[in-house]
Amino acid sequence: MKKLVVLSGAGISAESGISTFRDSGGLWDQYRIEDVATPEAWQRNPELVIDFYNQRRAQLEHCKPNKAHIGLVALEKFYEVHIVTQNVDNFHERAGSSNVLHLHGELTKVCNSDKSQVIDIGYRNTTSEEKINGTPMRPFIVWFGEAVLAMDKAIQITQMADIFVVIGTSLNVYPAAGLLDYVKKDCPIYLIDPNEVITKKEVLFINKGASEGVSELINLLL
Ligand code: APR
Repeated sequence: MKKLVVLSGAGISAESGISTFRDSGGLWDQYRIEDVATPEAWQRNPELVIDFYNQRRAQLEHCKPNKAHIGLVALEKFYEVHIVTQNVDNFHERAGSSNVLHLHGELTKVCNSDKSQVIDIGYRNTTSEEKINGTPMRPFIVWFGEAVLAMDKAIQITQMADIFVVIGTSLNVYPAAGLLDYVKKDCPIYLIDPNEVITKKEVLFINKGASEGVSELINLLL
């Protein structure tokens, strides 16, 4: 089977009711990154950080995967599909995708300070008082300024791709956006987004929202 690798971003979950980050009215219009998504924010005001992720987790519990997530599962009959996602939601897994790699962590998990221990907590709220083996328990999220530990694996997966698909990401955040540089020379790159996305790569642009775009992708690939 040919290998189809997907790099997904917040836009694939927009139709599930989760805000993107950089669209107008998006999360980074409502919060400052430096208040909720950096190690310094965590040191300065853990309650604010915890509250931000508690809200994200509570919202996730009440939202569902959409047709785009589900369409990618349907492609597994015809392709070996690997999803590399920047999203911290669990929609790809809930839709039924077999191979999902999270670059930026997962909302339903927490960890100790050095991320050597990761625990599944489902959708429950956490507090800044909780500890794992004596160290503060924190969201299992890759904050700005932290290492993207899954990047080596993501590069390996990208290098194997026969078809590469980018869905719903502004390609603003590195190293994730740099994955496109590892796509083989003859591998087609499809890009699904309702808005223009700046990339120096040559892409087959499907200028649609994620659900419609994935449905068009399926028509093109099958
Ligand atoms: N379908 C598909 N794409 C959409 C839709 C939709 N319905 N609605 C919006 N988009 C597109 C936007 O046009 C934009 O290109 O989704 C993209 C969202 O971009 P960002 O908000 O920048 O999200 P993302 O690229 O995933 O952000 C990367 O930044 O803050 C961090 O860690 C966070 O993982 C995140 C990273």
